[in-house]
Amino acid sequence: MQSTDIRTRFLNFFKERAHAVVPSSSLIPSDPSVLLTTAGMQQFKPYFTGEADAIRDFGSRSAASVQKSFRTSDIDEVGDERHLTFFEMLGNFSFGGYFKREAITFAYEFITREMGLPISYVTIFKGREDIGVPRDTESEQIWNSLGVTDVREEGIADVFWGPTGSAGPCGPTTEIYCQNAAGQDIEVWNVVFNQFFYAGTREELLAGATGKKLEPLATPGVDTGMGLERLAMVAQKTRTIFETDLFASTIALLPSTMPERDKRIIADH
Ligand code: GLY
Repeated sequence: MQSTDIRTRFLNFFKERAHAVVPSSSLIPSDPSVLLTTAGMQQFKPYFTGEADAIRDFGSRSAASVQKSFRTSDIDEVGDERHLTFFEMLGNFSFGGYFKREAITFAYEFITREMGLPISYVTIFKGREDIGVPRDTESEQIWNSLGVTDVREEGIADVFWGPTGSAGPCGPTTEIYCQNAAGQDIEVWNVVFNQFFYAGTREELLAGATGKKLEPLATPGVDTGMGLERLAMVAQKTRTIFETDLFASTIALLPSTMPERDKRIIADH
């Protein structure tokens, strides 16, 4: 399946499920707490904090987008089989509407039925008492009810999203792993349950900064992020994202004598 078809399928899948399709926002965000747009949720932050109203702006409590994103945090890993600085993020969002059951069921149906891909395993948050977030047993039960039994627990570094920038929405996540042609299990989709607001950075949250704690979010909801390039790798049965139709033609222009990693870094640029 070509990457253009994946984008269209994703947006149509969520449009058919009452999501407003919202264009990608600029890579230069209106959020002054970050330099570049790092995720699909960036343009939607005000809808979670209660500063903006999704019904008024989109006519729906749910939205879907294909967001151009840039992450300097992954820059040293570019050139391996799956990391990029610039990528496109497929995302569906709920602002005070659906929550865990619907979000997990949508993700399961899109991956297994719409894309016809097997799920290797999923992850859930194992909980952390000191910040007051319990183990995500509810998500585990929902996955089990859908027939996904390989559910692995992970900690705050891996399966607790956000906040982005100097403050913002955050919450536990559940991730979906699928296999690429090299037999590696690749994280393709991160389904975030935004339940909290943290008035500090992610680094402060991870360090347990004194005087700062998770507060209930004004408009709890769902924020998902799935890398188009990683999904294309799995769907097109390639060993790396650089062999997908998104990069193959650029790589083919480069001299065959050039080291593989250099070619991939140029293609990312
Ligand atoms: N906001 C979810 C993600 O970027 O993975």
